[in-house]
Amino acid sequence: MAQNERSLVIIKPDAVQRGLIGEILARYEQRGLRIAALKLELITREIAERHYGEHKDKPFFAGLVEFITSAPSVLMVLEGPEAIRIIRDTNGDTKPAQALPGTIRADFGLTIDRNLVHASDSIESAADEVANFFGDGSIIDYTRAIDSWINGD
Ligand code: CMP
Repeated sequence: MAQNERSLVIIKPDAVQRGLIGEILARYEQRGLRIAALKLELITREIAERHYGEHKDKPFFAGLVEFITSAPSVLMVLEGPEAIRIIRDTNGDTKPAQALPGTIRADFGLTIDRNLVHASDSIESAADEVANFFGDGSIIDYTRAIDSWINGD
């Protein structure tokens, strides 16, 4: 069986304001991913700056932090075999104009500044990102009755 992975996923303020939480969450659930943690939160500036730290010298950094802290986001930890890759494929290219039809960013987005979702890009960054948003004990380790039908084990 493929390795089980965790990813930190954000449904960003634009998607929350547009009433797309359910639509986006359904895509991850339908794909078979398991929700290990989930909350609605107004991200603080401190946590946002840490989350996007790798972009701190980029010209879009200030605007990115301003946007992500401007209204509530949905934060979640998703699990599944090869979850990092699968979630990034489900989200589509960072630039919605280059995302494939059927992906979240292509189906609901137009511009990189309002691209609806974020997901971790590696197992290592997922561990850091999950720790930035979720404290010890807030991630639930459980199995669903359907997991064997999804994963084949
Ligand atoms: P995200 O997956 O959250 O990771 C970094 C974010 O920076 C990215 O999605 C975009 O929303 C945002 N961003 C804004 N402008 C740019 C840009 N020019 N290049 C890359 N990312 C950008």
